[in-house]
Amino acid sequence: MKISSTAIFALTFVVSAGTLFAADPPPWAYGFDGPPQAGAAPAQPAPANTDQTLHSLPGVTAKFSRAQIANRFGPADWFPGDHPQMPDVVAHGKQPNVWACGLCHYPNGKGRAENAGVSGLSTEYFIHTMNDFKNGNRKSSDPRKNNTNLMIQFAKNMSDDEIKAAAEYFGAIKWTPWIKVVEAKTVPKAKPSNGLFLVEGSEMEPLGNRILETPLNAEATEVLRDPHSGFTAYVPVGSVKKGELLVTKGGGKTIACGNCHGADLKGLGPVPGLAGRSPSYLMRQMFDMQQGLRKGTWTELMKPVVANLSSDDMMDIVAYTASRMP
Ligand code: HEC
Ligand code: HEC
Repeated sequence: MKISSTAIFALTFVVSAGTLFAADPPPWAYGFDGPPQAGAAPAQPAPANTDQTLHSLPGVTAKFSRAQIANRFGPADWFPGDHPQMPDVVAHGKQPNVWACGLCHYPNGKGRAENAGVSGLSTEYFIHTMNDFKNGNRKSSDPRKNNTNLMIQFAKNMSDDEIKAAAEYFGAIKWTPWIKVVEAKTVPKAKPSNGLFLVEGSEMEPLGNRILETPLNAEATEVLRDPHSGFTAYVPVGSVKKGELLVTKGGGKTIACGNCHGADLKGLGPVPGLAGRSPSYLMRQMFDMQQGLRKGTWTELMKPVVANLSSDDMMDIVAYTASRMP
């Protein structure tokens, strides 16, 4: 039997697409507008911000400068009354290698699309996953994603007591609605900026096959880091319904999530909640688990869940989970 080289090529292509490994990370989930080039390296963190111009937020008497808002070892706390007293590591980090958790995740743990919501997680899971970062079991599939590397650096430089204090602090804050899911064909044009997509003008563009998670108010999020100003997730029309089937029934491709994450997806025992959390963050996690870059001992339970899912399936799943009110 003679098989042409074209046929072999076609076959190899089908097989590699079928196994789903070595796929490009979906750029929208990692904060980029295209796939990484060969040899892509993470950007280095920008120098500390020194702008002293004061800014204010409606209803808040205190004023803060960008230098204070972006202070890596004591960022501005706009709403000290909306959270319990922060442990030192959350409020100030630890010089020189641990930045204040509140800088990126906000003092209330809501987090942003380019990092993660960390409030409302069980203490057990929080500690476990910090140790996964520490031990090389949580890396990003996109080599450009610098803040995952920072997260690893912080975990490596924290003591068990500091990890526990942060876990207990954020674990005591309930996860509440933060992201509004909107099915749309056309969306505001947004540009990637430090891992986050920001809308600049009034220009619109087709959404296409992706999720656009962007601040409700770009200035409030990017300039002021206002922890009360959430996000909109524009998702493809029909994705929520498709995701619902996979999440609640498995759709013949996966295992119903409620078995482990709780019927309402708000978390069950140590297993983290999914409802109402950042779809970009959850997408990155599922993709990184599938690629074997997130691989702690607890991740074993997720391996069969993600094994046969395409990137589109995962996108539908996170559109649905984000739409569930926590
Ligand atoms: C420079 C920004 C930054 C700072 C500061 C930061 N983190 Fe993170 N953190 C991240 C990013 C980014 C991720 C998600 C990584 C990814 O998506 O690959 C993350 C994820 C996490 C997660 C995983 C959440 C989950 O659901 O599994 C935990 C827990 C966490 N961070 C805790 C902390 C603690 C504790 C501190 C303070 C010591 C801290 N972070 C400081 C950027 C940051
Ligand atoms: C057999 C139990 C089990 C099932 C079923 C399961 N999960 Fe998980 N899931 C886990 C565990 C345990 C973790 C924590 C993994 C770790 O620590 O690495 C997890 C973590 C996750 C995370 C990362 C959360 C975070 O905060 O970083 C996502 C996303 C996720 N699961 C999505 C799903 C989806 C979607 C489904 C259904 C299609 C599902 N899981 C079904 C047990 C399960």
